[in-house]
Amino acid sequence: MNPERPRFTVTGPSPVLVLTERLQAVLSEAFGREYASTDPAIRPSNYADLQADVAMALAKPLGYNPRVVAREIVGRLDVADVVSDIAISGRGFINLTLSDEWIAAQVQRISADLRLLVPIAEQPLRIVTEYSSPNIAKVMHVGHLRSTVVGDAIARVLDFLGHDVILVNHIGDWGTPFGKLIEYLLDHEGGPDAGADAFVSDPGAFYKAADAKDKSDEEFAGRARRRLVALQTGDEETLRYWRLLVDVSMRSYNSLYERLGVQLTDDHVKAESFYNGELALTVDALVGHNLAFVSDGALCAFPPGFKGQDGGPKAVIVRKSDGGYLYTTTDLAAIRYRIGVEHADRVVYVVGAEQTEHFELLFAIAEMAGWLPEGVVLEHAKIGLVTGPDGRKLKSRSGEAVKLSELLDQAYERANAVFDEIRHDAPIDSATRAAIVSDVAIGAVKFADLLVARDKQYTFDLGRMVSFTGKSAGSVQYAVVRMKSVLRKAGRTPETATGPIVIGTTEERALALHLLDFGTTLEQAGAAAEPHLLAGYLYELAKHYTAFHENCPVLKAPDEETRASRLALCAVTLRTLVTGLSLLGVPTPDRM
Ligand code: ARG
Repeated sequence: MNPERPRFTVTGPSPVLVLTERLQAVLSEAFGREYASTDPAIRPSNYADLQADVAMALAKPLGYNPRVVAREIVGRLDVADVVSDIAISGRGFINLTLSDEWIAAQVQRISADLRLLVPIAEQPLRIVTEYSSPNIAKVMHVGHLRSTVVGDAIARVLDFLGHDVILVNHIGDWGTPFGKLIEYLLDHEGGPDAGADAFVSDPGAFYKAADAKDKSDEEFAGRARRRLVALQTGDEETLRYWRLLVDVSMRSYNSLYERLGVQLTDDHVKAESFYNGELALTVDALVGHNLAFVSDGALCAFPPGFKGQDGGPKAVIVRKSDGGYLYTTTDLAAIRYRIGVEHADRVVYVVGAEQTEHFELLFAIAEMAGWLPEGVVLEHAKIGLVTGPDGRKLKSRSGEAVKLSELLDQAYERANAVFDEIRHDAPIDSATRAAIVSDVAIGAVKFADLLVARDKQYTFDLGRMVSFTGKSAGSVQYAVVRMKSVLRKAGRTPETATGPIVIGTTEERALALHLLDFGTTLEQAGAAAEPHLLAGYLYELAKHYTAFHENCPVLKAPDEETRASRLALCAVTLRTLVTGLSLLGVPTPDRM
């Protein structure tokens, strides 16, 4: 970093960033250049807006009492434009109260900016974001829903931050199940087309039946094995049946994606079969570098740092003794493709936490093979389990994985039922009602998923999710609708309500202060691939707005200045919420 850069370069409105920069300038001036990038440890405070705890951390290395350090810092600190009150308390905490004028001025700047002052990455990265990735042989269930919803939000946030995002749906369409599926399809009494219909109406049951036949009927099992070989060696007829299965299930995935409002289409599918031609080359590359050896007939890689059950090096099979390849082999080929062809700087795998070991081994093999150029990051964005009310993995009554389409139907029913619980400002015709109910239902399912840290397990509870109160999409969507309605009644659009913004009441101040953190929240959510940071932020924002709405009359404000200021606050809050929700893929109806 250039040491001669100007002292204050921060342009963002985040008080933490602004004050961090100011404090660092003081640290370097007072205690030496080596402290120029010491973290001043600013965090929310119970006694002021923020507090800096750096004096405690510096006391030891500097050899002073922390209060002395704090006094030295405060004596030199130049923040009169930002802060209205500074106090040293306790052992040496520096309490900082932001000035109302500074807060108002920052919100004014946000309101004047098309991007709400959200920074654009100075060095955009090429980021492959892999999500959803269901297996064709199984039905898409609620676990895939979570990867789909969370992955889509991660991709949208990264894109908004200026990165070059490649969406990938790594569909499981290759391997052992297909020999059985194809034979079972051909055995169907109505012929393969009717078989394909039966498959798509309930892929789970179809596969189960095929699997049962495979176990009980030797003749069938033999055909299934031969069929798999035929598939993997490119037999035309076999490929035709395989494609039939792939096509029907793609059609049902695509309609689910559309219904969910996620970005995935056929264009983003790079299924396991896509890498088929690369598997032998991938394995050869390992062998060529002396990184894979035959053990018990199978070709294995031994990533450093992992122990097997016997305490010796962990063997990861990359080619079975019958010559077949595995899930891991495909993933190794995909890494080579993503780095070599797609030029990824970062690959985010939005996949269930139960595959943690798979990804650890996979990344270790890629690293060992030298396939990861300096700076390239592979990360497993872990997805936690979705449980039913009993705390166990969500299952339907018959013990099967719950079908996604049925869940969405139930959410719709429920949204339709609670719709009459809120006051509607005008009568709503049935088509509009259906559209709103759908926005509420889909929004509810997605937002509930997004509010919980993605690696934490959560209980799927439609009753709590689909609601207009509490921590739900409905309550946030309702706040949006209120803002739109206030602006409409004032004859304004978000663009024409420009203030000037002044801070008068506690609710105005709290709302304005929260607005300043939108950009940093997005940056953190993108960097950590953690959209729950954004969801939580937006939920809080809606809460601040609701308090403001209920305590600070806008249309009937006491005077013209206050009215103009409050309308502008509504407008910038509305834009922030709509932008944020759209990055989460949560729809925002115009009325409710
Ligand atoms: N198809 C897999 C499943 O449903 C998930 C794929 C995850 N992605 C990967 N590159 N391995 O469990």
